[in-house]
Amino acid sequence: MTVSAVLILARTLHIIAILQLAGLALAIVVLPVPAPALARMRRLAWGCLAVALASGVAWVVTPTAQMSGHGMTTVLVDTQFGHSIVLRAALLAALALLMAWGRWRWLAVVLSATVAATLAWSGHAGAGEGLLHPASDVIHVLAAAAWLGGLLPLALVLHHGDMTACSLAARRFSRLGMAAVLTVVVSGLGSAYFLIGSLAGLLGTPYGHLLLVKLALFAAMLALAAWNRQILTPRLASGRTQLIRNTLTEAALGAMLLGVVGALGTMAPAIHGEVRWPLPYRLDGGHLVPATPLSFARPATRLTTEAVAQGRRLYVETCAGCHPTGPQTSNQGDTYWWATQGHAAPPLAGDDGWSVVHYLRVRAHGASGPAPDFDFETPGGDQGSLVDDLVTLLVFYDDSPASRARLGQLENQTDDCRILASPLQSPATSPLSVTVTPDVAEAYGVTSHTELLVDEAGQIRARWSLADGNSP
Ligand code: HEC
Repeated sequence: MTVSAVLILARTLHIIAILQLAGLALAIVVLPVPAPALARMRRLAWGCLAVALASGVAWVVTPTAQMSGHGMTTVLVDTQFGHSIVLRAALLAALALLMAWGRWRWLAVVLSATVAATLAWSGHAGAGEGLLHPASDVIHVLAAAAWLGGLLPLALVLHHGDMTACSLAARRFSRLGMAAVLTVVVSGLGSAYFLIGSLAGLLGTPYGHLLLVKLALFAAMLALAAWNRQILTPRLASGRTQLIRNTLTEAALGAMLLGVVGALGTMAPAIHGEVRWPLPYRLDGGHLVPATPLSFARPATRLTTEAVAQGRRLYVETCAGCHPTGPQTSNQGDTYWWATQGHAAPPLAGDDGWSVVHYLRVRAHGASGPAPDFDFETPGGDQGSLVDDLVTLLVFYDDSPASRARLGQLENQTDDCRILASPLQSPATSPLSVTVTPDVAEAYGVTSHTELLVDEAGQIRARWSLADGNSP
């Protein structure tokens, strides 16, 4: 078995054992439990405790083995994951004492629910920022524990109990289950929003696909639960055997679902993943439009003057012959897909495709789009880049008397906006001058005195050139 298979198995067993423990504790308080069923539930609880501890150890050891140079102690002491494991081990030990003492009831419910809640802390939510995502994950785990963890106890009560106990148990569990399922759905939607983000993330990433498997298992469990609630519970006398069978099937589906959960926790969430759109169409502003596998891809390179200048050269050489006015689509991912597929021209390799995308984007937005970034050096030797939270007046000046006059005006201006001046032909003459590569003027499509106002977010707010006349 590979390391990741061991890790998934350990996580799955750990999650199952802990949810089962919490569900058992709750069921003992909530359901009418006959003595023989109680004895078996206690044995089951001890088994869960042992599995939880063993799989917890396996879970810590596996990723530690991968982090070369970091000992187990480092992981336990220095990482949030380590803290959650240590806390969980301590809580499990306390729970063991409580069980040995034979005092179940509410203290055990609270303790085992706390153990279950720490599971959310070692998943994806624990790594995130803010409170909303971890909170919704904790609620998700607790509701799942109440529902899934209650299935085996219910089956035991139905098996051992008399008719009164059975019907009471079935009705109570049915109400508890409804509330839990509703909570699972609402909190699950919350987490999905944080980890998937969009329909593209759900349909176009391995994480999303696995989540769909989880949803399918969930749907099957819901169907069984509905059958139990609507048909079997009201007619318990004839339906009891079937109800037990369904409850056990539901529990088995639940275990499979938790296997998927165990695997999901080891994968990069869709929101960080690369989306490959699987359908030939997608929705765009309420209309169905043709899609490509990369419709939802985002540029892998930054929007820089170097990329734009390079993209322009590539576009003129390879695309302009057939697309003189540019392709019809304005979707970046689609353009990239076509550019790198070689549908007519030789395919562009990786980042060259993005350069063409950047060029087309700047061209389409003209005077009001994103400003391609570039590095510069001041006469004093300081280095900087255009896009760095400052409002900037970017000035390209030339040799004409009008340009010189305008530059002199700017030199005497004491605005709080940063001014970067770049000479178009001659050596720098102004103290405002900065040194940049020639691709900057090329990327901005500038040949004579031109000024661009770039805001702190890197967007071009205004563009004015001397040839246009008037004052800026
Ligand atoms: C030899 C001619 C030719 C060349 C060269 C060419 N294309 Fe195309 N391109 C086409 C044709 C024809 C279609 C329509 C094909 C189809 O629908 O199957 C097309 C379709 C497209 C589309 C999708 C439709 C649209 O207009 O939005 C994009 C995007 C595109 N090309 C981008 C590029 C890019 C980028 C390059 C340069 C790397 C390029 N093409 C080079 C002929 C060409």
